[in-house]
Amino acid sequence: MKTIQLSNLEKLPYGAEEALNRLRVNVGFCGDRFKKIIITSSTPNEGKSFVSTNLWRMLAEAGSRTVLVDADMRKSVLRSRYQFASGEKNLPGLVHYLAGQVEIDDVLCRTNIDNAYLFPTSYTVTNPALLLQTERFSGLLDALTRVFDYVLVDTPPLNSVSDGDLIASHCDGALLVVRSGVTPRNLIAGSLKQLERAGCELMGVVLNRVEAKSNPYYYKYGKYGYYNDYYYGSDSKEAKKK
Ligand SMILES: Nc1ncnc2c1ncn2[C@@H]1O[C@H](COP(=O)(O)OP(=O)(O)OP(=O)(O)O)[C@@H](O)[C@H]1O
Ligand SMILES: [Mg+2]
Repeated sequence: MKTIQLSNLEKLPYGAEEALNRLRVNVGFCGDRFKKIIITSSTPNEGKSFVSTNLWRMLAEAGSRTVLVDADMRKSVLRSRYQFASGEKNLPGLVHYLAGQVEIDDVLCRTNIDNAYLFPTSYTVTNPALLLQTERFSGLLDALTRVFDYVLVDTPPLNSVSDGDLIASHCDGALLVVRSGVTPRNLIAGSLKQLERAGCELMGVVLNRVEAKSNPYYYKYGKYGYYNDYYYGSDSKEAKKK
């Protein structure tokens, strides 16, 4: 199995690290039946990849064997953003696996973080929906579930393309990322309906990129402009009202 060096994971300010840590703990409280977890949002740029990458790292650091499946096959950012240096230029990825060109073990990579594994997307396509509809995708998630404690799936936004619905229909639960003060309520309501229709239970809503000035801790902990908060279980109803 290849090893990928994660060379560029940001060091987060204390407030963000704490909020994400709370998210990690609350994911654990949701129980064992949530193993395949989609991290999604209504629109682009709300922080799905940010939340999924950091949750992945934290779950792994806390001792849970966790694999991050980069299922944003239209515009994967993980590889470039975190400078995954594998030593191999033509790394096979999710698209190759779904197209039947390679098998799971050819794609799955370990990382320099213990317990953190990655199923990357190395090659992007314009219409991944067809690939996601095959049994190979559901088979992949099921196979990973047998080996890992958590399978996190980073996706494109629900509102723009159908990939998210298809992925959600194969997952046990969803974390819906909402960009504070930006995501329109009607889109959030639409996303909740989409997840329900896909038969994917809402585990919680992550209120992301809360303006730092509205957070009293911000001033103590540095220059970062964003903070995030997490609404869990019944509290997620509060988030829906916002
Ligand atoms: N809580 C946060 N604190 C600081 N920066 C953040 C936070 N959330 C997101 N960002 C930054 O905002 C930008 C967009 O985030 P990200 O790529 O995770 O969004 P996304 O929802 O995955 O977007 P897309 O829909 O295009 O896949 C990135 O530069 C990311 O580092
Ligand atoms: Mg993303």
